Amino acid sequence: MKITIVGTGYVGLVTGACLAEIGHDVFCLDVDPRKIEILNGGGVPIHEPGLLELIARNRAAGRITFSTDIAASVEHGEVQFIAVGTPPDEDGSADLQYVLEAARSIGRHMNGFKVVVDKSTVPVGTAQRVHGVLAEELAKRGLAQSVDHRFSVVSNPEFLKEGAAVDDFMRPDRIIIGLDEDENGTAAREKIKRLYAPFNRNHERTIYMDVRSAEFTKYAANAMLATRISFMNEMANLADRVGADIESVRRGIGSDPRIGYHFLYAGCGYGGSCFPKDVQALIRTAAESGQNLRVLEAVEEVNHGQKEVLVKKIARVCGDDLTGKHFAVWGLAFKPNTDDMREAPSRRLIADLLSRGATVAAWDPVAAEEAQRVFALDLAHAPDQHARLTFASSQDDALMGADALVIVTEWTAFKAPDFAHLKKVLKAPRIFDGRNLYEPDTMAELGIDYHSIGRPHVNLANSAA
Ligand SMILES: NC(=O)c1ccc[n+]([C@@H]2O[C@H](COP(=O)([O-])OP(=O)(O)OC[C@H]3O[C@@H](n4cnc5c(N)ncnc54)[C@H](O)[C@@H]3O)[C@@H](O)[C@H]2O)c1
Repeated sequence: MKITIVGTGYVGLVTGACLAEIGHDVFCLDVDPRKIEILNGGGVPIHEPGLLELIARNRAAGRITFSTDIAASVEHGEVQFIAVGTPPDEDGSADLQYVLEAARSIGRHMNGFKVVVDKSTVPVGTAQRVHGVLAEELAKRGLAQSVDHRFSVVSNPEFLKEGAAVDDFMRPDRIIIGLDEDENGTAAREKIKRLYAPFNRNHERTIYMDVRSAEFTKYAANAMLATRISFMNEMANLADRVGADIESVRRGIGSDPRIGYHFLYAGCGYGGSCFPKDVQALIRTAAESGQNLRVLEAVEEVNHGQKEVLVKKIARVCGDDLTGKHFAVWGLAFKPNTDDMREAPSRRLIADLLSRGATVAAWDPVAAEEAQRVFALDLAHAPDQHARLTFASSQDDALMGADALVIVTEWTAFKAPDFAHLKKVLKAPRIFDGRNLYEPDTMAELGIDYHSIGRPHVNLANSAA
């Protein structure tokens, strides 16, 4: 089938590459010429495991094209995916300007029956607005009643996880399709069924529902996941106070199948391009309908506080004023296997360390370049602080002469470092671990002063070491 993807970011690019992989003829559009130039030069503007190879293979097979040509992109696809950003507006609601602009350009160039698919995460009622924009543009062209320019707007929210996006897309747990059961909806359903048929061979993964419920499902899913994280973080903070070990508690409660082990880790707060903005947007949607989402308001507040937990632990040990102290920070991306720095906990942590007078040597296996760009913007108001942040050339290099190592992202490369070497190159053998990567007892045996989240701190003087 001929498919167009409007917006070639994390979601659009992965969607386009995966749909090409199963045999569709995909046209990827973006308004950012820099991205298209990178893609047409054989590169990929984001880090996502397996994506470069997937794109190269499908480009060679002639199944994927990248362009900034809007008219050509609309003409190409019988199915038009809208996969543009929906960043938070000032009041926390989803900013729909990019989605509506994408719809407008489809309406301006529409040349036949089109199924317009909202893949961006959008509030309930957005498909209706997209429908309105398309109708408006057709009316401007005198095509309001044209049987050759019919269309249907479908909601197909995306559930991929950055860092495992290609795998998630190729092996989805579910495909949510929201559509209206009118005449155009029936034609749309047939196209969507054909489009996703290869994913349903083993068993049916598509769940059909009305458009508004599909839009809601995406927010409810992210809100639930964010709730589990904030719940565990709050339990971890209590475990810290009462001397319990949150890792034992996690195993204890995760064994209950009603709870399960997934997404139950305590840490230094959630970030990324989805949970923070989607929780906020759902709170706004509820407020507009006259309802307070008290659980989600607490989830957000707990997460905000959690991003300060590490720096508070550091201040307790090293003092409030960190002037003259030097920290190695491992992990900048909001999660492993991505270079995405949006709302990454490292941003708050590093800004806090710098504002208390410290110097920081930061390291991330893939996000360093993106982090340099982001911190230049974050710290533009404080050049003296920005000057105290350096980016190390290796994981090891970051440690040299640091008063402590701070771990913010759980990259695999951080899971089993050479602790003897680490002790040698750090000024003091001390780790603040925001991801609970190591065992407190083992660290004490190694003579490392180890502070983690929700687990007892083993006092080195009292340990066997
Ligand atoms: N990133 C994720 O892990 C993820 C997962 C599920 C859902 N989502 C949702 O998917 C949507 C896209 O997220 P993303 O992370 O891919 O965003 P992104 O910022 O990485 O990509 C969006 C792209 O759209 C382009 N764009 C904007 N307006 C355009 C237009 N009119 N025509 C063509 N291109 C245009 C931008 O230049 C950009 O390249 C958001 O609603 C997000 O909430 C994201």
